[in-house]
Amino acid sequence: MARVTTATLKARKASGEKITMLTAYDYATAALVDEAGIDMILVGDSLGMVVLGYENTLAVTMEDMLHHTRAVTRAVKNALVVGDMPFLSYHISREEAVRNAGRFIQEGGAQAVKLEGGRERVDTIKAILDAQIPVMGHIGLTPQSVNQLGGFKVQGKDLETARKLIADAKALEEAGVFSIVLECVPTPLAKKITEEVGVPTIGIGAGPYCDGQVLVINDMLGMFKGHIPKFVKRYANLEPIIKEALTAYKREVEAGVFPGEEHSFNMQDEVLEKLY
Ligand code: KIV
Ligand code: NA
Repeated sequence: MARVTTATLKARKASGEKITMLTAYDYATAALVDEAGIDMILVGDSLGMVVLGYENTLAVTMEDMLHHTRAVTRAVKNALVVGDMPFLSYHISREEAVRNAGRFIQEGGAQAVKLEGGRERVDTIKAILDAQIPVMGHIGLTPQSVNQLGGFKVQGKDLETARKLIADAKALEEAGVFSIVLECVPTPLAKKITEEVGVPTIGIGAGPYCDGQVLVINDMLGMFKGHIPKFVKRYANLEPIIKEALTAYKREVEAGVFPGEEHSFNMQDEVLEKLY
């Protein structure tokens, strides 16, 4: 398998072959995702919730993101790694946005960055692109706007907001993004956007007509205790499996069953005799 690039994704949109994306936040998980042949890995700021235990993504810093991006990129051989720009890393000025985007590439080893927002982000996106950094857009439910949106809910259900999302998608395409995440939008609207833009759309809670799909890995593996949104399909339920293993370990250590001989090291009798 060859390295996935933005050119690979563009060709996929043309051929109609679906694009796969998952989040990963650490070396071991990223290696599994990469070996499974997933096209793109997002080091999402969702790590604030699923790894760091925050209530939302707003507390996540550049340092948090770079720490996890480095762990992921050390493992990945083929997938395109996208670093998720955290809250306030691209809002203050174009200069700061370019510098922070650049850190994902230079220090994190990512191949691209993602940031949330539509038309209001076009100038920022152009500045980052000008530094030769591929940018992925993200519209619909944008979790960094949770306080302004008034909660995590489906976006674009009425005519006005649906039209706004279509215009945002077109503005992002025109700005030069290589792909757009559509989060929590009605299936028919995601379909329409996918038909109207020339870059691949990657859906999460956006129905089956997007050019690709993304999920948070902890959610799809059944490894997260928090709220699981309707759009998540659980491909595994690891939580009870892990719990069972932990309980068995506790039981066996307490009973003196573990470690057994096969897990232990011996020494030569003559050395041992002199010890006593
Ligand atoms: O942070 C994240 O995991 C994301 C995806 C849900 C698209 O932004
Ligand atoms: Na995110």
